[in-house]
Amino acid sequence: MSAAPKQIPPRAGFEWEKLAFDLYPTSGFAKYVWTAETGEWGPVEWVKEPYLNLHVGNVGLNYGASVFEGLKAFRHADGHIRIFRPKDNAARLNHSADAVSMPALPEELFLEGVHLAVARNGDLVPPHAPNAVNGSLYIRPLMFASGANLILAPPSEFTFIVYVTPTGSLYGAAGTKAPAIDAFVIEKFDRAAPRGNGSAKLAGNYAPTFKHAAAAKKAGYPLTMHLDSATRTYVDEFSTSNFLAIKKQADASQRKTLVVPESESILKSVTTKAIIQIAKDFGWAVERRRVLFQEVKDGLFEEVAACGTAAALTPVRSITYHDSPETTKKVSIGDGENAGPGFLSILTQLTGIQSGVQEDKHDWVWPK
Ligand code: COI
Repeated sequence: MSAAPKQIPPRAGFEWEKLAFDLYPTSGFAKYVWTAETGEWGPVEWVKEPYLNLHVGNVGLNYGASVFEGLKAFRHADGHIRIFRPKDNAARLNHSADAVSMPALPEELFLEGVHLAVARNGDLVPPHAPNAVNGSLYIRPLMFASGANLILAPPSEFTFIVYVTPTGSLYGAAGTKAPAIDAFVIEKFDRAAPRGNGSAKLAGNYAPTFKHAAAAKKAGYPLTMHLDSATRTYVDEFSTSNFLAIKKQADASQRKTLVVPESESILKSVTTKAIIQIAKDFGWAVERRRVLFQEVKDGLFEEVAACGTAAALTPVRSITYHDSPETTKKVSIGDGENAGPGFLSILTQLTGIQSGVQEDKHDWVWPK
């Protein structure tokens, strides 16, 4: 699996400028099945229609044994399509799979499935743009317990699929054009228990946030944030993405410091890992530690961003929280309006590497 997918031009007539974070029709998806009988993953099957035929008793739907990944493919200036850090997603998928008693998936199979799904939908990778402002092909690997069981135990069949869809940004505009958005701290619900599965990408970590995110969105906050569930004093992450911050400096000549919350309850984000490396490459200091929400309240951060595959690095211009059951307080970040220069420079570098206009010195894009 070393050759880059062939040069397949972007589909003519597709309205790339209107690309949303949505599902678009594709040519199909890659599917693999594991059975207890063989103890192995079987050969790949290409499925053209976006449907699966499942037993009603499948453990994925009944008991939530379902994990997923998100990664992106970009079109480079040479017309070739390349994928960002897929081996890291392969590793995280296995971390998640282990949490819900699913068999491990060999890295080669993960890469084969991703490669096939992208290559067979290459015309849906947006046209090249230096900082990926045209969007990307979002890749969704999904593994679930497809076998049936009424008892609470892993079944004898599991399914791994890889489907794709072209996407713009999760929050407004792709690439480096993302506007700064407002966040709201969820008070009534905790995302992850202290010794739970917050670090894994379990399907069940997401659906419980929907109603809280929808209520916040209706009130004008596109982004919802979670504190640690044990003490509600530390920053965990956003419902869709990791929390990152840049410390306020006494004067502009000081070395910048990236602050990355550390906790067992936070999703192990591949994008955060890349941003930490880019910050180090820029000569910034990096603090990975527990982050008190009081630091946000005290205005100690000059920039905050939401970080993930879908969110990329979306600037956050305010965080609102309940200071009593009836009242809220808003903390403005930076000028309270626009993206700050620090995260914009990191996002420019990240999207530059992803779109092939910056040197890939850490060997992140695949295939070479
Ligand atoms: C991703 O960033 O890939 C995710 O899975 C987050 C989800 C909100 C789309």
